[in-house]
Amino acid sequence: MTIRTVSPTADIAALDAADALAPFREKFTLPDGVIYLDGNSLGALPVDTPSRVAGVMHDEWGTGLIRSWNSADWIGAPQRVGAKLARLLGAKAHEVVVADSTSVNLYKLIVAALGAQRGRRVVLSEPGNFPTDLYMVETAAATLGAGHRLELAPRDELVSRIGDDTALVMLTHVHYKTADLFDMAAITAAAQAKGALVLWDLSHSAGAVPLALNACNADLAVGCGYKFLNGGPGAPAFLFVAERHHATLQSPLGGWMGHARPFAFVDGYEPAPGIARFLCGTPPILAVAALESGVDLHLTVDMQQVAAKSRALCELFIDLVDARCATYGVTLVGPPRGAPRGSHVSFRHPEGYAIMQALIASGVIGDFRAPDIMRFGITPLYLRFADIAAAVDVLEEVLRTGAWRAPAYQVRHAVT
Ligand SMILES: Cc1ncc(COP(=O)(O)O)c(C=O)c1O
Repeated sequence: MTIRTVSPTADIAALDAADALAPFREKFTLPDGVIYLDGNSLGALPVDTPSRVAGVMHDEWGTGLIRSWNSADWIGAPQRVGAKLARLLGAKAHEVVVADSTSVNLYKLIVAALGAQRGRRVVLSEPGNFPTDLYMVETAAATLGAGHRLELAPRDELVSRIGDDTALVMLTHVHYKTADLFDMAAITAAAQAKGALVLWDLSHSAGAVPLALNACNADLAVGCGYKFLNGGPGAPAFLFVAERHHATLQSPLGGWMGHARPFAFVDGYEPAPGIARFLCGTPPILAVAALESGVDLHLTVDMQQVAAKSRALCELFIDLVDARCATYGVTLVGPPRGAPRGSHVSFRHPEGYAIMQALIASGVIGDFRAPDIMRFGITPLYLRFADIAAAVDVLEEVLRTGAWRAPAYQVRHAVT
């Protein structure tokens, strides 16, 4: 591997010195003594967010009280933040809203798609997709009770399995475990050619990889706000519906915020004409404010630069682990060096859980995905090349000393 042939310390210092994104690290609150490699699960706190949320709390809530629904445009917040996010997704401003969780947004769009695709009953996905995505199809199909079903096909067979009965192809763009990346444009075109709609889960893509939903002719998408968008724990999620589907797709959750005239207080449900029909209840304004702060920060960034640095950090990590940790049974999962990938790196080890606990205790924070995957999020806005090198130093030390064997590291926590 390339890195082994050079002096890592000198090279890594040079990489950090030449990094155009280095100043962004100052825009995040990061605790001392921590190398944070879990921004794909919970993004770090932007420095501006506490004052933004405090402002909404004190001025808009404390002083403005209920007047702030109008005066501070709380009522327009899901669309306003959605419009900002649309720029990161390569979509039109009126095609995106922030609302609910990714799981709930999946449910809304799965049922909406099935309703629009009368006569077709299959939702096609891949085995090992993020569990909530598959659970949402299963439970939506059971609720509809009209013979809808989930079918799973390995990714190399997916396109050939799209048939006359396929209503919807539902895939996670960047795989949550492996960082494998689907070709959005190609799959979308292949599915549409056979009459299917496509729903993309962008949870590990938004803010992580360049996206061009409109250029890919995407139909539908959802994604998390708390990962690479730095929206905070439990941040509202987003959903995208291409303009051409606004009039035909109906949310199964016809709450008043998705009504054409919520403040007319009429008895019958009449869906809003545009993307607002996919809203349901009152938006969580404090959480939306935190998400808006994270999104605003991302809008100051060139995503191509982020992608280039992500690739360089991922490849450095892969090279160093391969050179120094492979002998301890650590193996790369997902795309090999040089292949298209998302912005995390995963390694397999039978004792991955305990090793990750030992890493966390040493200040290197990643996470573990059962049964044996150590996952490391690569966030170019606040990670330095030196952080990657230092993380691998710690990993090698944990493996060499067997520190992970300590009983404390075998204890399974609720969240891994
Ligand atoms: C790919 C993917 N989809 C969906 C989710 C879950 O989203 P939520 O908790 O907002 O429902 C996650 C969470 O990690 C995820 O990784």
